[in-house]
Order: sequence, then structure tokens, then C-alpha cells
Amino acid sequence: MSHALRRLGVNVDHVATLRQAREARYPDPLAAALIAERAGAAQITVHIRGDRRHVQEHDIVRIAASVQTLLNVEAAATDEMAAILLRTRPHRVTLVAERPGEVTTEGGLDVAGQREQVAAFCQRLLAAGIRTSLFIDPDRDQVAASVIPGVDMIELNTARWAEQGGGDELRRLARATDAGRVAGLAVAAGHGLTLQNLRPLVLGVPEIEEYNIGHALISDAVFLGLDGSVRRYLELLA
Ligand code: PXP
Repeated sequence: MSHALRRLGVNVDHVATLRQAREARYPDPLAAALIAERAGAAQITVHIRGDRRHVQEHDIVRIAASVQTLLNVEAAATDEMAAILLRTRPHRVTLVAERPGEVTTEGGLDVAGQREQVAAFCQRLLAAGIRTSLFIDPDRDQVAASVIPGVDMIELNTARWAEQGGGDELRRLARATDAGRVAGLAVAAGHGLTLQNLRPLVLGVPEIEEYNIGHALISDAVFLGLDGSVRRYLELLA
């Protein structure tokens, strides 16, 4: 698979985290999005949380209006988020599980356990012309349940891969990727990916076509610059 086919989505949440820590006007996640795109990112990703600890609705409006690529907004399937998504109309939505008070996303969305609610949410987005991706654990049941009208992509949760690595988890991700593709879904991956653990995943499961990376990539930018950090991750996807 060529470099051009394996896309990098840069999650700029933690630029906003730094801004919110001081309740300041800077650094601006939009400025980060534009640098990331110039460096080769195929998509900008943000996660709007119920507690608004990083990006705000106005960030989504500004980023959606300015990116040359795509804006992917991660959100929980709540009425509050539906209203924001229908107002701001990002190019893509990724539905995630969110527990109030969690430090970061703790697991994939249990699509199999709440399929009707998820399908109803995706239907509302589909009616507005918004495509949905579902962030799920790499389990066969979750992949099978994700075949839902309006859903054209799954994003596999790589948290366990990031924490433990190992052949078993790599095979689990490979099986889930295969199952997704057989079901006609594009397959993305994300969570906890770093310059260290990304390459073996890319080599082990080459069919994953998109990676969404935030915390490590923005952290590396402190030392490498954002342009340099994005380019280092792109090299690993090549
Ligand atoms: N993909 C999804 C669905 C996420 O929720 C997150 C974290 O917001 C990421 C990717 C990025 O994870 P990380 O910040 O650990 O790279």
C-alpha cells in the first residue's frame, strides 16, 4: 500500500488543552490544523467533550471553515452533541464512548450492546449528509454490529496495543480489520499511538488505511516543532 493511501489524521485537541489551562487565546488549534495540513496530514481530528476541556464549539466552526482537507469530529452520541454536530456540520463524525471524569477515552463504543440507539444517532447525521465512523474495540461482535446505514468506517481502538503491544493484540487488530473490510467498511485506528509503537502496527496490519494520532504527536511537537512532528509520523506510515 502506498504512502498516499495511508492517511494521517492529526488530533489537535491538546493544543486547545494548553490554551484552556490558562483560559487564554493561544495556542490556537486552528493554527495547528493549518500547519499539520501543510506538513501532509490528510485530516484534522478534534474531540468535543461534554466538559469542553479542550476544543469548543467555536473551534469546530473555525476549523471546518478553514481546512483544505477534512475535519473529523469525535463526540459521544448524546442529544447535546447531536445539536452541535448538526449546527457545525463537520465532514465526518466519529462516535466515541465518553465517561464523565475520564482522563482520556477508556474504551471503544459498545455498538453491539446499544445498536438501536447508535443506528438512530447515525440516521440523524446521515439525514444531514454527515458520514459516521464508529470507534470500537477490535472485537468481532463490535465490527459485525457496526454495519449500520450511514456508517462507512470503523476506527479500531489501539489502546491495548499501545499499553501492551504483543503478537496477540496485533492479530486481534488484523482480524478486526479483515472483518471490517469484508463488511465493506473502511478501517482506521487510533489511541495511544507513538513514534515507537506505530511502525510495528503499520507493518503488522498494512490494510489499516487511516491513523488518528494526538497526544504523542503534539507532545513530540514540543521538541520537533509541529511541522517536524507530523513529518516524522508520516515517514512511519510510508
Ligand atoms: N481516536 C479516537 C477515537 C480518540 O478518542 C482519540 C483520543 O481523543 C484518538 C484517536 C487520539 O488518541 P491519542 O491522543 O492517544 O493519540
